[in-house]
Amino acid sequence: MNVLFHCGGDDRGRMQRAVIEALPDCHVRVWPDVGSPELIDYAAVWQPPPDFFDGLTGLRAVFCLAAGVDALLQHPGLSASVPIVRLDDAGMARKMAEYVLYGVLHAQRRFGEMAEARRRADWSPDLGSAAADRFPVGILGAGTLASAVAERLALNGYPVTCWARSPRELPAGVACVSGDDGLRTLLPVSRALVCLLPLTEATHGILNRELFDALPAGAFLINAARGEHLIETDLLAALDQGRLSGALLDVFTTEPLPPTHPFWQRQALVLTPHVAAPSGARESAAQVARSLAQFQAGERPSGWVDRERGY
Ligand code: NAP
Ligand code: GLV
Repeated sequence: MNVLFHCGGDDRGRMQRAVIEALPDCHVRVWPDVGSPELIDYAAVWQPPPDFFDGLTGLRAVFCLAAGVDALLQHPGLSASVPIVRLDDAGMARKMAEYVLYGVLHAQRRFGEMAEARRRADWSPDLGSAAADRFPVGILGAGTLASAVAERLALNGYPVTCWARSPRELPAGVACVSGDDGLRTLLPVSRALVCLLPLTEATHGILNRELFDALPAGAFLINAARGEHLIETDLLAALDQGRLSGALLDVFTTEPLPPTHPFWQRQALVLTPHVAAPSGARESAAQVARSLAQFQAGERPSGWVDRERGY
């Protein structure tokens, strides 16, 4: 079996070694060393270049070395008939739970305002803060990452409600709402709102003025999904109007975030460089190996992407 590997980003060396190790019975070729392209059976990729799929006429499936497949689904070289299998957790859920817990604590305990007071050498700003059980958190999404995040927040005493397309069983203490009505009930009570949705036609630009207006005044936003979920100018306006008190952002429409971007100047924004939940190399490679074996056996691996719904 021939597997063609490509991984963008800083972690490519570790991921490459892990994939080669996890597939001892396969010949893993590292792009651009494709050999005879028509003999490639599978691809394991993150951020494949535009000509990656050229000539791969025998490709049976693509294993995406990430949870989000939005970019892969739009790759002009990938035929719509080739199945895609994405990473399902692979070490990301625990890290995402830590990341979001940090953001929620930051908002609930008002650490951002305390940091500003500290810059003024102001010892005693009387800010006060709500107890965790009076600080409801809404999560857009109820999938692999959102349910791990929700569980962690609930264990820390926050009332948590997730929003999905259809109702779901979630960890103890976590509520689930769905559809437009569900979103309408979720937003007005969410003092922190977390976006963990896949980027699809339906979710593109969902973090916009209308949504911010439906949140309680001074709510805090956490976006750790994709930059294109957020209308950036609407966020800046919501901060100016005091609709939102601040945000923790890990993802941006343009990455790396350009040095001239107005977000850098806003003290109310905590910015991180798309590091909320990197996948673990060994966990990812093990999942690719498992999925490949399932695929060979005619089974549908977990992480199977439904192209119609876009995730
Ligand atoms: P997932 O398991 O596929 O979960 C997606 C959730 O979103 C599901 O609950 C789904 O609802 C819900 N959803 C999708 N479209 C919806 C809509 N139109 N309305 C309401 N709910 C909708 O995905 P995941 O593994 O948790 O990953 C989520 C995203 O996180 C990825 O797509 C990626 O963009 C991002 N991510 C970011 C990082 C980072 O480091 N920043 C790392 C990993 C992933 P149903 O349950 O009804 O299907
Ligand atoms: C990272 O952003 C991922 O989608 O895995």
